[in-house]
Amino acid sequence: MVTQPKTDLLALLAQDFSFKGETSHPMHNTHAFAAKFPPQLPRVFIESLTKPGDIVLDPMCGSGTTVVEASHLGRIGIGIDMDILAVKVSQAKTCALGPPLVRHTINQVVDHATFNYRARTLDIRSFLKENYGPKVISFFQYWFRKETIEQLACVAKEIKRLTNPAIRNFCEVVFSSIIVTKSGGISLARDLAHSRPHKDGSKKVKNAIESYAEKAEKILAAMDKARGVSGRAVMLRGDARSLPLAKNSVDLIVTSPPYANAIDYMRAHKFSMYWLGLDYDYLSNLRKRYIGAEVKLDLQEFPHRLASEVIRKVSGKDIRKAGILLRYFQDMEMASKPALTRNMSYFYISLL
Ligand SMILES: C[S@@+](CC[C@H](N)C(=O)[O-])C[C@H]1O[C@@H](n2cnc3c(N)ncnc32)[C@H](O)[C@@H]1O
Repeated sequence: MVTQPKTDLLALLAQDFSFKGETSHPMHNTHAFAAKFPPQLPRVFIESLTKPGDIVLDPMCGSGTTVVEASHLGRIGIGIDMDILAVKVSQAKTCALGPPLVRHTINQVVDHATFNYRARTLDIRSFLKENYGPKVISFFQYWFRKETIEQLACVAKEIKRLTNPAIRNFCEVVFSSIIVTKSGGISLARDLAHSRPHKDGSKKVKNAIESYAEKAEKILAAMDKARGVSGRAVMLRGDARSLPLAKNSVDLIVTSPPYANAIDYMRAHKFSMYWLGLDYDYLSNLRKRYIGAEVKLDLQEFPHRLASEVIRKVSGKDIRKAGILLRYFQDMEMASKPALTRNMSYFYISLL
């Protein structure tokens, strides 16, 4: 059954969304992520369209902004994303770990890594050979300085030994956050979080173990601040085109889908995902399955008039781009199909 949302959506959309000077939840800055929501944006819709205890879903949750806000407001947040790093970051932001336990583990990781690096007790060549394939090692050698590879290997080795999944995930996200970052990351790439990476051989790169310790301290301070405000949240890896959720099972969906052919998440995320043990070919194949990926379909009719018109216009200038757009529209159609929401308070904030 289709009913109207509790609040008039048009009235909500008419308000000022500049959010200047407003503070946000301390965990939002845990990790850089391209095209993430200003946290106040999902908050407006969650506050106005749901009540405490309701279920809020973001099926393309990215860094988990919607889910953090939902659980902070006493709703149950569900976040799903196809991207491995996105789910890791969202999990780290919403995990219920106590900062003292995490701090203890981080200190151990940093102390052992520092010792191994300074005393040269880790055989870097053997460590790399045992843990990464030849294509990944070549990638490391192209994008990281020799001493950075040595420092990162020392940290990666310590993280691999951790057995508590939530703590290990937290440590992995800190690790990734010093590589995939807007500026000042420890690879030789410029502005990895937002654009196509360009190598800059003259880039000043900090010591990776020290960067790890500094970033961990910042996130732990945010965790300390956030204590007592986090609520219930669930994160899953999944595909928005075939969600593992029953019909009418959520109260509100707030999401910002990828743009068509604009941001290639894997291009940046692989810089840290390889270090965390993900396979070269596996990530290459996964990359093609993202909504918005640069993968084209052969042109054919699309059942929506407006979308068809756009595809036709684009095909007049660039057939390949038109094929990419067709695939994007088909994917978005699939992702919008399931009637998961109880009251059809269902909308995408889509910037095409
Ligand atoms: C614009 S970002 C979302 C950013 C998010 N709102 C935030 O605040 O961080 C779009 C997300 O869609 C994800 N995505 C792409 N294809 C997907 C699919 N088929 N299923 C689920 N997520 C997908 C990408 O991995 C990316 O994290």
